Amino acid sequence: MKGIIMAGGSGTRLKPLTGVLSKQLLPVYNKPMVYYPLSVLMLAGIRDILIISSPAHLPLFRALLGDGSHLGLRLDYAEQAHPGGIAEAFLIGADHIGADAVTLVLGDNLFHGPGFSALLRERARRLEGCTLFGYPVRDPQRYGVAEIDAAGRLIGVEEKPRKPRSELAVTGLYMYDRHVVDIARGLTPSARGELEVTDINQAYLERGQAELVQLGRGFVWLDTGTHDALLEAGQYVQILEQRQSVRIACVEEIAYRMGFIGAGRLLRLGREHADTDYGTYLVELAERSARDQQVPHAPPPGLVADPTGLPPFAATRSPGP
Ligand code: DAU
Repeated sequence: MKGIIMAGGSGTRLKPLTGVLSKQLLPVYNKPMVYYPLSVLMLAGIRDILIISSPAHLPLFRALLGDGSHLGLRLDYAEQAHPGGIAEAFLIGADHIGADAVTLVLGDNLFHGPGFSALLRERARRLEGCTLFGYPVRDPQRYGVAEIDAAGRLIGVEEKPRKPRSELAVTGLYMYDRHVVDIARGLTPSARGELEVTDINQAYLERGQAELVQLGRGFVWLDTGTHDALLEAGQYVQILEQRQSVRIACVEEIAYRMGFIGAGRLLRLGREHADTDYGTYLVELAERSARDQQVPHAPPPGLVADPTGLPPFAATRSPGP
């Protein structure tokens, strides 16, 4: 499974904040926004990831994340010349996807909830056609909206309908099989001149191959599309991180927990941010794990209810150096 982060667009609703900066690099509390969608792909076990952004902003993403090897990832970058729609991701990313399945995540979406990693990995493993993730909201007309039947099966998708048929927003996280590139090639631009991701979903629905996973109570999906929403997302992360003393979307920690990097690398990454809380957290995590690994089967205190939903320090594959 490959991954794509769509981090272009013009960020008009966040001006003047986005006057010179990419929306997806704005801070959400203590991290750049793109860390949040990147962490989603990592939690799904995806290591081969394409980041798409505008020609002006792409170098900034590259400067921030490099080739991803420090996180045990392979990161590539591609330009979207103009914001021609989210579904352009599959045309721009056709070579990256090749004959694989792909998970697309929008660069401005924040997900957080118990068992998320296990859910994502299970869905990726069982993927047939496309899997969408629905979330009940008060204002569905602002989003793609999913219609379900009495049994909870997906029967319709509509982009920003004036009269939504349900309260279920289609979140900015999509899993597709290898046919998505061909489907994207056959799309025609919508009235607003964009290749719409909702039209891709519609095509899978017509093939009888679209599934909706409902993210329920206790799960958080935030978008960061307005000044208030951006501030609220930051406050959410701040409250949780301070209250529980865990980190949300700490990509170094996730790389370690997923087995993409080893404890030595984690320690070095922590030391690079040594004079921040963020760095201290990583250093303590690495030191604690080194101690705990000397005592088999003893999870470190406070890390049992892991935000990744993974067992503490379970490596899903052999760790890197
Ligand atoms: O957030 C979920 C919603 O995202 C879905 O419910 C909608 O179905 C989907 O169309 C999308 O709606 P938005 O109104 O949020 O789309 P927006 O144009 O704001 O773009 C979302 C992200 O994708 C944003 O980070 C910018 C990026 N983007 C967007 C376009 C149109 C690109 O990178 N390139 C683009 O051409």
